[in-house]
Amino acid sequence: MNSLLSHLQPTATNMIRLDHAHLMSVFQQYRPGATTRVKKGLVATICTALEIHAQIDEEIFYPAMREATADESIRKSLEEHAEINRMVALLRKMEPDATDYDETVMALMREVMHHMANEETIVLPAAERLLTDSLGDLGMRMTKRRLQLVAPRGGEIALNMGRAVSGNAAALSMTALSALGLAWAARSNFTATSAHRLVDHGVVNQP
Ligand SMILES: [Fe+2]
Ligand SMILES: [Fe+2]
Repeated sequence: MNSLLSHLQPTATNMIRLDHAHLMSVFQQYRPGATTRVKKGLVATICTALEIHAQIDEEIFYPAMREATADESIRKSLEEHAEINRMVALLRKMEPDATDYDETVMALMREVMHHMANEETIVLPAAERLLTDSLGDLGMRMTKRRLQLVAPRGGEIALNMGRAVSGNAAALSMTALSALGLAWAARSNFTATSAHRLVDHGVVNQP
């Protein structure tokens, strides 16, 4: 399984860039005029993707960076994570008919775009200089952790994808899978259920 994963999954920094691009593609599907059901599905998908992305970064990528550098950009980036997590928690408690719902989604999108720009222009290039030899291993650990985090949430993720579908079901489902970093898994018939089995059977271990 390790060789299959290493063949399919990108380095840590490329995985983070892909996650960012996919997250933005889900944000861009949000329309203030959409139905309550679609808004709920999209926002829940965005929130779940952000929670998983931030947790993997904080558990695996940033600790490696902290060992390699004491640069201020790492502290700043983690402060931005805290703000994004706070906004995600706030949105999770809101209903789409709240007067400030659209405004809050847009504020989260602006915060996420600002954070991604900082990571992509400062943190990721630094990681590619400082962690060159371990980016592949870090990417592998991040993929394993993602599968562990997604597996128990498979039902919730499927429900939200279903809600968010408003036309092109196949395209949107793939976007949602991409936002969760699972598009590569879907392409290889490696679904959340398969991931669950791997965790159950101990193939994917706790890091
Ligand atoms: Fe981040
Ligand atoms: Fe990020």
